[in-house]
Amino acid sequence: MLLWKDVMHTMPTYLPKESSLLAALRSFTEQESRLLFIQDCSSKIVGYLDQEALLKQILAVQDLHQPIKWKEAFCVVSAFAPLSYPQPYDVFLARADDGGIVGYATSQDIRIRLEQQQHSRCPTIQEDLQEMQTLPDEHEGLSSDGTELPHQLVYRSAVMQQLVDELKHIAKVGSTVLLMGESGVGKEVFAKALHHFSDRREEPFIRVNCGAIPANLLESELFGYEKGAFTGADQKGKPGLFELANRGTIFLDEIADLPYSMQVKLLRVLQEREIMRIGGIRTIPVDIRVVAATNQDIRTLVRARKFREDLYYRLHVVPIEIPPLRKRKADIVPLAMHFLHQYNRAYRLGKKLSSEAFDVLQQYEWPGNVRELQNVMERSIVTARGEHITADQLWANLYGHAYQHQEAEKKAMVQEIIPLKEAVEQVESQLISLAMKKYGTAAKVAKILGVSPATVSRRMQKHLQ
Ligand SMILES: Nc1ncnc2c1ncn2[C@@H]1O[C@H](COP(=O)(O)OP(=O)(O)OP(=O)(O)O)[C@@H](O)[C@H]1O
Ligand SMILES: [Mg+2]
Repeated sequence: MLLWKDVMHTMPTYLPKESSLLAALRSFTEQESRLLFIQDCSSKIVGYLDQEALLKQILAVQDLHQPIKWKEAFCVVSAFAPLSYPQPYDVFLARADDGGIVGYATSQDIRIRLEQQQHSRCPTIQEDLQEMQTLPDEHEGLSSDGTELPHQLVYRSAVMQQLVDELKHIAKVGSTVLLMGESGVGKEVFAKALHHFSDRREEPFIRVNCGAIPANLLESELFGYEKGAFTGADQKGKPGLFELANRGTIFLDEIADLPYSMQVKLLRVLQEREIMRIGGIRTIPVDIRVVAATNQDIRTLVRARKFREDLYYRLHVVPIEIPPLRKRKADIVPLAMHFLHQYNRAYRLGKKLSSEAFDVLQQYEWPGNVRELQNVMERSIVTARGEHITADQLWANLYGHAYQHQEAEKKAMVQEIIPLKEAVEQVESQLISLAMKKYGTAAKVAKILGVSPATVSRRMQKHLQ
């Protein structure tokens, strides 16, 4: 019997084919199925059914008339599809008192039954997914007319849900926040969202790229100068970015790149909350919320004496670490759908993702995080010929050129005597490349080569490094 704790344990992550849950669900549906993603969406995707009604539907579909001891109506929604079925659909499960699963039904079954009862059409999972994009709690930052704002956050994973809750809470408190995470995870979007959730939202949000401003200009950029402070200075003097951010938020991006000599000056502003323009004789108070971000490990820089320890502690008041996309796979599909909408609108197109393309998106490791996903979606949308973006096209955009290039190089090299390990790696690479061209998806390639899709994906990435 499928136990509820197994389901809970695996939510909301994407599960590979071999997972015990998938095996159990497979025996339910008695068809070979593909699990796209799993999530708890008892109130979202099945918004048109309350829990009780859902349970009734599950039991009715299964023709279970005898009273069943069930604890509560709920659903685990897994976008789930038999391989032959073109669109993903959901499997709803009902839980008994002892944690066992007592009933199940697919969204397709339920939809058909509801349509029969109501004599009207119910939304499909795809339509629900599309609609989810406009739900305010999934899409922080949509303006009232539905257009996007720069701080718009798209997420579904539990870990991001928690981080956004934390962000909203901290936004009201006003303390200094240090955003950390790999490149492209969304640090800047978080900083903008923080500003938006705070009482300062009507005031300025000023971004300073600490790595991009030349060291000799940094001080005047940050703190401004009085008239005649130095040769070439503006005659009237000029306010710095800290002054401009007064009453608002200052976002110190790439903080680890701040030159060491400037770090002590920044520390002073953070402590005293006042600045002095270059050539000035009086201090100017500034009321600012400070948000800093970095994709480097500042602690290592502190140990190497490249970053001041005292400044680190000043900034490290509320640290927020945004996990890489590969560690929150539940966000991949909503983000992909979001970018699909965004670029369809921008280019006046109506492209869709094929269901195999969803697989590809979830199997890939996304070393460039959300930014890479965004770029790949844009490229795929503008280059797709037909209505659907296929798995092949996605693969080509993710790995394509590097692979072709690699293959051409490799053929000549196998002629000579090389270490066995290297030769095996080359053959492996050629084999996967060949199979990818022929079969298109990692899932099919994995089946043909007798390995897991995760292995195929890992090997491809390794060979491309
Ligand atoms: N949760 C999200 N929802 C919507 N868009 C996102 C999200 N996270 C990131 N993005 C988009 O991905 C791109 C990269 O995000 P962002 O610039 O915030 O990353 P970053 O962490 O600051 O990267 P870097 O360290 O390279 O500066 C942006 O275009 C941003 O709009
Ligand atoms: Mg950034």
